[in-house]
Amino acid sequence: MKNDIREVLFSTVEIKNRVSGLAQKLADDYVHKNLTIIGILNGSLIFLSDLIREIPFAVKIDTIKASTYVGASTFPKGKTEIIHSININVKDEHVLIVDDILDTGKTLSEIVQMITKYSPLSIKVCVLLNKMARREIAIAPDYCCFEIEDKFVVGYGLDFDNRYRNLPYIAVLREGIFTASKII
Ligand code: XMP
Repeated sequence: MKNDIREVLFSTVEIKNRVSGLAQKLADDYVHKNLTIIGILNGSLIFLSDLIREIPFAVKIDTIKASTYVGASTFPKGKTEIIHSININVKDEHVLIVDDILDTGKTLSEIVQMITKYSPLSIKVCVLLNKMARREIAIAPDYCCFEIEDKFVVGYGLDFDNRYRNLPYIAVLREGIFTASKII
């Protein structure tokens, strides 16, 4: 896998420190509140699991599975497909939606609208990465670990063609990896 990497943007240690700091902030903001954390799969899977284990009180967890890309592509397909939604009741809960990256904003704005219909007490958005340069919908994260430039990134849950999620850091792939795939 290492040979496929052009540049490491955030190391394992940097990620660990930022995730711990963010968990501490969440612990302060949500102490004595009923908190439901909703992770967006598959991208948030590693961020979500590290983050929730650093929150020192009991929270409810659920997931939504959404699909944005088709196959070996770095361009979103336009419409976010919700493959499965939440199963728990979020009325009377404070909801925190956790995703890997806020890019165009389409996925998270659709999900926020969808969850709002279930009348939670509050709803906030928490992302590992914020890529402002490609924003199409006016949405800003309430909590964020890192701001990034307009680069397609992989690792720590983020994929290209479903690979590289298991890289323990966040990186940019070599150009050859994209061109070796039929679609870019
Ligand atoms: P939008 O554009 O709706 O995108 O904000 C959200 C989803 O798109 C995926 N995404 C990426 N995945 N590297 C990835 O591996 C990237 O640079 C990237 N940008 C967007 C991601 O799944 C996110 O939830």
